[in-house]
Amino acid sequence: MTIDYSERIPNNVDLANDRTLQRALEHWQPRFLDWWREMGPHDFAAADVYLRTAVGVDAQGWASYGAVKMPEYRWGIFLAEPIADRTIGFGDYYGKPAWQQVPGEFRSQFRRIIVTQGDTEPASVEQQHLLGHTCPSLYDLRNLFQVNVEEGRHLWAMVYLLHAHFGRDGREEAEELLSRHSGDVDKPRILGTFNEPISDWLSFFMFTYFTDRDGKFQLKSLAESSFDPLARTCRFMLTEEAHHMFVGETGVGRVVKRTLEVMKELGTDDPSAIRKHGAVDLPTIQRYMNFWFTSSLDLFGSEVSSNAASSFANGIKGRPDEGQYEDHVCTETSYELETPQGKENVNLRNAMNEVMRSSYIKDCEIGVKRWNMQIQRAGFEFRLALPSPRFHRSIGAWVNVPTDPRGKAMSQEEYDRLLPSWLPSEGDRTFVKSLMQRVIEPGKMAGWIAPPDRGINNLPVAYEYVQLR
Ligand SMILES: [Fe+2]
Ligand SMILES: [Fe+2]
Repeated sequence: MTIDYSERIPNNVDLANDRTLQRALEHWQPRFLDWWREMGPHDFAAADVYLRTAVGVDAQGWASYGAVKMPEYRWGIFLAEPIADRTIGFGDYYGKPAWQQVPGEFRSQFRRIIVTQGDTEPASVEQQHLLGHTCPSLYDLRNLFQVNVEEGRHLWAMVYLLHAHFGRDGREEAEELLSRHSGDVDKPRILGTFNEPISDWLSFFMFTYFTDRDGKFQLKSLAESSFDPLARTCRFMLTEEAHHMFVGETGVGRVVKRTLEVMKELGTDDPSAIRKHGAVDLPTIQRYMNFWFTSSLDLFGSEVSSNAASSFANGIKGRPDEGQYEDHVCTETSYELETPQGKENVNLRNAMNEVMRSSYIKDCEIGVKRWNMQIQRAGFEFRLALPSPRFHRSIGAWVNVPTDPRGKAMSQEEYDRLLPSWLPSEGDRTFVKSLMQRVIEPGKMAGWIAPPDRGINNLPVAYEYVQLR
């Protein structure tokens, strides 16, 4: 049987002429589809979804729109166009030609980082397995599925690298990526946050805003990698990631907007009155933010890390937007850290996780400012705020240091007493879940969320983005 590879697996890696890669993918693809059917969006296999598919890396190709049944989505393999004579942008090999093959001495380090990135992609699809059943609108349902199929494609992207550059170990790792599962007791996903189930849409919007943004920063740092195929793969993934951030920012923004409407209508900010009216009170939104932001901060790792230093030294992972810095070698510079014991100066290379976390936090603040502008314009005093990076941490120097969300130290006793008021309680979760009733009439929205300002790809908001059969 001859297969038209560019049709079935759109790609710009000349798959049609690469027998070894074809054979590896022919083996892996059916397993991927089994995984998708079992662990992907539950119960929507027959629906026609208005999705964008990447069929090329140029302006026309990267977003081709049309109605697709998800199991027939064409998951492709794309690398951003090569940069001619690209040189290594940081670390010990700064200025040398970028690598087209993985150097033997860094092979396991590269493999581990590709596997860790690859593991998060299907994990998020698994976390959102049942979410479609409670969609607040067809518009949102479509966005969920768009994010899901693209995370599926990001898995393909990492699997391509494993198959094309890591031989037998790569093939084994590619299999393992389908056998670990989010929240599985025996074989969980590698990173903690990706084992948290996402069973309501407020959590989904928080996840796409905060946790997907961690993904954006990881991809940005890998887009700097000395291993050129990895850099090019991640550069292309970032074009898709922008939509995921958009879903998160506008999602939370629309929840806030609806809450403000209800607050105005009732003339009160009393949470119980707002809840009775079927909207999410602002303090609850704040608690969800506290949870997802702090758990996403942990994904960057410890403030001081010899691992981070070595992956910078060896050219594996740079800083996001490395071009913004003047010094790309960073052996002589120190970085000032805040630890529970006070200020501490460490070698910059050892502080790379913290450098990344800081740029991530700045990026997170942009959306929060916009949400607060909405609140201010509506004439209310309440302000949402990112908690301090010292608060509620499970990794790094601030683990087990009791502080309030502003980062102020307190006794363990007081902390234990107040913590339930800072994070979503059982009651909050039950309430939010009670709002999750599915709305599937084109153009209609659930009562707890405002409609979006515009539809997808210039279509009206009321377009039937998902045709359920
Ligand atoms: Fe992704
Ligand atoms: Fe994403």
